[in-house]
Amino acid sequence: MLRRPRRNRKSAVIRSMVEETWLSVDHLVFPIFVIGGENKRTEIPSMPGIYRYSIDLLLEELAACVELGIHSFAPFPVIDEKLKNPTGTESYNPEGLFPTMIRKVKEQFPEVMLATDVALDPYSSDGHDGIVKNGEILNDETLEVLGKMALTQAQAGADIIAPSDMMDGRVGHIRNVLDANGHTDVSIMSYTAKYASSLYGPFRDALDSAPKSGDKKTYQMNPANRSEALIEADLDVEEGADMLMVKPALMYLDVIRLLKDTYALPIAAYHVSGEYAMVKAAAQKGWINEQQCMVEGLTSIRRAGADIILTYFAKQYAALVKK
Ligand code: PBG
Repeated sequence: MLRRPRRNRKSAVIRSMVEETWLSVDHLVFPIFVIGGENKRTEIPSMPGIYRYSIDLLLEELAACVELGIHSFAPFPVIDEKLKNPTGTESYNPEGLFPTMIRKVKEQFPEVMLATDVALDPYSSDGHDGIVKNGEILNDETLEVLGKMALTQAQAGADIIAPSDMMDGRVGHIRNVLDANGHTDVSIMSYTAKYASSLYGPFRDALDSAPKSGDKKTYQMNPANRSEALIEADLDVEEGADMLMVKPALMYLDVIRLLKDTYALPIAAYHVSGEYAMVKAAAQKGWINEQQCMVEGLTSIRRAGADIILTYFAKQYAALVKK
């Protein structure tokens, strides 16, 4: 035999020498959940190890993460049911929970990167990412709210606006609103190919944001479609997105690779709540090795072509590799 591929696997040194994919904490963004009140920390039952924090405790948690080398965060707000309404007006209240959190975080940790979520669902009494009328999700009317929400977040100090709503034209609209108000330096990380997935359940538990009726299939993508991701990506590029995201990650590795090979922009992948929950649940039963599965999953997402990974494992991974 002239070719024996095993020769390149024969020792740990040789294996690392020929390793093709690198995973580092620098690539990870940690999604975090913020709630109102003080001195509050509640675990999310379907996401073991992940908590909702009131702002004071969130700041302590961020300090611990920064200590571990995590500098990028994607916060999501848990909004009081009483403040939710059909048009999500609380989303652009500058004194609301989310903008207040952004200001406090940037005050205490100016160097930390915040990629803030833009979508109606945390604020909507209907639990949808857009305004609902007679069972339909209104696109253009929703854009108006998304623009106001993005501007409020930019004014509070957000570094990156991350629209997760999947309305048509939202990247262009948000870009225009930001630029018209002098926020030309605020970036947009678009949820470009966001699929109507079964894997968002634990996240909706965390935010208590499940749709009150219907599903999200008229705006989120059909899991069966790949070419359609190119249509979404072309639009996001034209409309001024700085980074393109695929979501979820592990069941959509082909889409990550497709976008990575087609576009020069950085590609992000959202390793979502259900993906995290599956690993945790199987590990709790003793059916898989949690640590190995975590590293294998994150490595696979990078191998598929993701430059950036949003993952609930960020802190656990950072603690694992911290020397
Ligand atoms: C909604 C939103 C969702 C997630 C992020 N933003 C859920 C949904 O579309 O219903 C899911 C993230 C996760 O599951 O970790 N705008």
